[in-house]
Formats: sequence, structure tokens, C-alpha cells
Amino acid sequence: MDERPIGVFDSGLGGLTAVRELRRLLPGEDIVYFGDTGRVPYGGRSADTIVKYARQDVAFLRTFDLKAIVIACGTVSTTALDVLTAENPIPVLGVVAPAARAAARATRNGRIGLIGTQASIRSGAYERLIHRENPGAQVLARACPLFVPLVENGRFRRGDVVIETVAAEYLAPLREAGVDTLVLGCTHYPLLEGVISACMGPEVTLINAGAEGARAVAGMLEQSDALSPSAGPGRYRYFVSDRQEDFSHLASIFLGWDVTESVGQVDISQY
Ligand code: DGL
Repeated sequence: MDERPIGVFDSGLGGLTAVRELRRLLPGEDIVYFGDTGRVPYGGRSADTIVKYARQDVAFLRTFDLKAIVIACGTVSTTALDVLTAENPIPVLGVVAPAARAAARATRNGRIGLIGTQASIRSGAYERLIHRENPGAQVLARACPLFVPLVENGRFRRGDVVIETVAAEYLAPLREAGVDTLVLGCTHYPLLEGVISACMGPEVTLINAGAEGARAVAGMLEQSDALSPSAGPGRYRYFVSDRQEDFSHLASIFLGWDVTESVGQVDISQY
């Protein structure tokens, strides 16, 4: 048993896809969330910058006494997981391996689509891990750089002509290639689930990297006997590096519960 909170971070709102699943699976756990809203998006940046930002995000989270850290960001998971694991004495888990495993198992026709940020797609990390599980799978990858800024600006609902136009253009080649499984390799993308599903069709299985990462963390905590003894509800604290109001508003819509009272602001450049 371990009562300490779980730290979760992302460049912005995307990591809430992991938080939502953690709360569903482990309602008694306390969570400290950091969203680097002052520097989002990470996905178009160099590996060096992503590693630098990720180290600062973790340094802030570690001002709390945590039992584990979830990198609820595909970009940081593909680029900085090894560095962060090596530098920290508590478990640090990413979202890429769990999502790759789920996709490799879900496909029936062996054609898997992968969408993510430029840095994630460039890294080749998802493909490597999918092929480790399913060597015969064909992976069609596409970077979707406009998705994160649109989500951060609240343009994630069905019927929004801007996001629907962008999604149709990004996803057309994957749909035409006949993929039966699509990895939402950036944790922001499940906020677009309705829009993406409408483009791809109901027969395509969507893999939610944030939720898969959360399931992997829950399994790890259970196996290492580190679950909280509390039945819940756990305490949730959120921190952002820019205006609290924008985050609170969109986070409350996405999570389906009000977070306004529990959002603080951090000067991340100090870490
Ligand atoms: N949620 C992050 C990811 O999973 C978004 C990265 C970005 O800020 O571009 O990749």
C-alpha cells in the first residue's frame, strides 16, 4: 500500500485522457497534474528542447512526494522516456509501449494507422514497438501538427468546421489505405475522438494512448502492491504554466467534473 500521489504531465490538456482513465480505474488515488500550457505544443520542437522541457516538468512534479510519474504525452514518451527513467528513483511510465501493444493486438487485417506529432512520428518509436509485438503488421504513419493547437483552443467538437476540415485532410490517406486500427499516438487526440471516428468509420478501432498508459500504470501499481488503501474519492490538484482560466474551462468540459478550484499556476522556468 502506498498513499502517495501519482504525478501526471503533458504539454497541455492531452494528459487528461490518462487522468480520466486513472480516475475510472483507481478512484482512491491522489493525482498531481502538470500541463505546460505556456509552452504547448511540444511536437514541432527539437529532441533537445523536448528533453529540457520534460526534465523541468518532472522537477516540478517531484516537489511533491510521488510514488510514480506518468508521462501522459506521446511526444515526451517517444523522445525522453529513457532519460527520465534513468534520472529518477521512482517509476516513470510512458504511453507509447502500452498503446503499441494494444494496437498490435487489436488489428485483424494487419494494417495499423498511426497519427501523432511530428516529433513522435519522426522518432519511429511506435512502429518499433508495434513490430516487436506483431512483426507482420504494416504501419502507416502521419503527423497531424494542427491537431494540438486546435484542441488547446477548444476546437474539438463535432460540427466545428475548422477541425472537421483539417481532420478530413489528415485522415483521408489512412482511410483509403484500409487500416482497421488507428493509434491516437498523441494524448490530445482522444479529445477529437468523435471527429476522428466520423472520418474513419465505425469499423476502425481507435487506440487511446493516454488511456492505455493509465491502464499500464494501474497494473504496475497493483503488481508492486503500491495502490492507495483509500476507496476514494482521491484528491486532484492541477498546475499549469499559463492562465488557469483557459485550462479550467476546457478541462472541466473534457473531464466532466469541475476543476476550477484546484488549478494553480507555476513558473516552470524556475525548475
Ligand atoms: N499530448 C502531447 C502528445 O501526446 C502533445 C504534444 C504537443 O504539445 O505537441 O504528443
